[in-house]
Formats: sequence, C-alpha cells, structure tokens
Amino acid sequence: MTKGRIFSGMQPSGRFHLGNYMGALENWVRLQHEYECFFSIVDLHALTSSYSDTSKLQENVMEMAIDWLSAGLDPEKNVIFVQSHVKEHAELALLLGMSTPLSWLERVPTYKDKLQNWSAQGKDNNTYGFLGYPVLMAADIMLYKATCVPVGEDQSAHLELTREIVRRFNYLYNREVFPEPQAVFSKAKVLPGIDGRKMSKSYGNTIPFGAGPEEMWERIRMMTTDPQRIKKTDPGHPEVCIVYAFHKVFNPEEYEEIGARCRAGEIGCVECKKRLAEKMNALLADIHTKREELSKKPEYIKEVLDYGAQRARKEAEKTMAEVKTAMNV
Ligand code: ADP
Ligand code: NA
Repeated sequence: MTKGRIFSGMQPSGRFHLGNYMGALENWVRLQHEYECFFSIVDLHALTSSYSDTSKLQENVMEMAIDWLSAGLDPEKNVIFVQSHVKEHAELALLLGMSTPLSWLERVPTYKDKLQNWSAQGKDNNTYGFLGYPVLMAADIMLYKATCVPVGEDQSAHLELTREIVRRFNYLYNREVFPEPQAVFSKAKVLPGIDGRKMSKSYGNTIPFGAGPEEMWERIRMMTTDPQRIKKTDPGHPEVCIVYAFHKVFNPEEYEEIGARCRAGEIGCVECKKRLAEKMNALLADIHTKREELSKKPEYIKEVLDYGAQRARKEAEKTMAEVKTAMNV
C-alpha cells in the first residue's frame, strides 16, 4: 500500500546544482519508497520563460535525466518521463484554460514578481504562455489524478490554484473526475550559494551537482569567508563565513570543532576549505561515478524516458477520455 500518488516536475533550464538536489531531488528519492510517483522533466514549462533560445533544450533534458538517475531515482519504481512526450499535458491545459478566470492567474504572487524582475533586466516576457504557467501545472498534476504534490513553501500558491481549478472542473461538469491534491511539505532548507545568497542558476553562485573534485575545489576556493580575518592567527567569526555554513550542512560531525578552532585562530581558511572539499567529494563520490557512467550511455537514457512516456501516456489517455466525456468534446 502506498500513501497516495505524487506528481512532481522540474524544469530542464540549465545545469542542476546542489541547491536543487537538497531542496527537491533528495526528497523525491525518499518519497519514491512511500508513494506511487510520476516525475516529469517539464520542458514545456521551460518554454514559458525561455521560448526564444531553445538550442540547449534537448541537451538539458538529457542532463536532467542523468542527474535524476545518478541521484537514485528508480525508473522501475517511478514513472520518469519528459512532459512534451505525452501530448495530453498540452491538451488538458488548453481545456482547463477555457474555464480558468484570468483574475486567478493575475493574482499569483510569482507572476508579477517575475515579470518585474525580467523587465528590470530588459526582458519582455509578458506572454500568454507565461501567464498560463499555473494552468499547465494544474494539467500536469490532474492528468495523473495525483493526490499529493511535494512543494516548497514558495510554491504553495501554485498548488492552491490547482485545487481551485480542480473544484471548478468537478463543479462545472457535475462529477468528481479529479481529486483535490494535498501538499507534502519537505523539511529541506534553502542552501546558500558560494557568495552567501540563495544558490541559484540566475546568480551564477552554484556548485554543480555533477562537480568532480577539481570543479568542487574551484568553487569552494571562491567561497567568501570572514572578511575581518587576514592571518590564520586572527580570531575568526565562523557565523559570517559561507565555508562554515557548508560545514554545518555537509559536515555536521566536525563543524563544532572547526568553529571552535576558527574562533581560536587555530585553523586557517584554506585548510578549512580543503576539509570541506574532501568531505563533499566523499559524499558525492558515488553519485559522481554513476553520473560519469550514465553520461556515456545516451541510448539507455532515451530508453528510460521512452518507457516512462509509455507508462505516463496510459494514465493520461484514461483521464483525457473522462475529461472529454464530461465536457462533451
Ligand atoms: P534556480 O533558482 O537555480 O533557477 P529552480 O527555481 O529551477 O532553481 O528550482 C528547482 C527546484 O530546486 C525547486 O524545487 C526549488 O525549490 C529547489 N531549489 C532551487 N534552489 C534551491 C536552494 N538554493 N536551496 C534549496 N532548494 C532549492
Ligand atoms: Na527559478
């Protein structure tokens, strides 16, 4: 018996980083044992914000599949697929769009925020597709009649909108076609980037998930430390140091000792960085090896995604038949 059915997706919009892993994927790897899971690489969502340059999209899809598999998502246990391979996502989004009030979409907090951010960067992204993003997301979830959706606190507004779309559909067409999905909150905290802001592609402050020892050291070397500390013997202030924040997350066994020695001026920043690099390389060694292996097998990755799409399509077709009957189309 499982606790229910999960749908979750991630946009293939560039190189996967440790923040993405800690914030989402690590949680999925746990959830796969408790729920029946549909995990989708949502390439259509990626188009809602980057529609003009799509030259890297296929490559990003493949890379994301490799990241997921090397992190331990099991393609037998879960349905792992690419959103655009199952055309019913687009079809259901179109039909749900007919009855979704414009005002519901305009009041989603991230809608205005993102538009403002983009326009500050000189990018006009005020498109129909971007406004409709939450409708496509509702379609993703509803197509599989998912009962549970893993969300970070920042995404709960989107899920609430999906629940409203579900209620409206069931009410308008007078039948319980769709369950109302519940949020499964994860305990994951936001991982800082090497400059101390939230780790994010858009800040260029990430540690790539696939980083090997060389790249790991290159990134850790650049981390900001206590700016008041010049010499090793100066007493440090670990609470303002990014390296220390990483020790706390990735090296909990040693972090108190390291903090005490930093305050006492007994451990220098370079040594402290080296110890962090060693620790992180050890933690990621298996994943890194798996990643290198899978990178050499694009045919296998394609097979996994085809198999996932076949399984997803079966469910999606059933739901669409019910939707069409309900709507008389
Ligand atoms: P980015 O900010 O790099 O563009 P996304 O917004 O595409 O990342 O996020 C994809 C997933 O990873 C989401 O579930 C998000 O909550 C999670 N995530 C992204 N950055 C972090 C972070 N620094 N710490 C924890 N989780 C994160
Ligand atoms: Na983002």
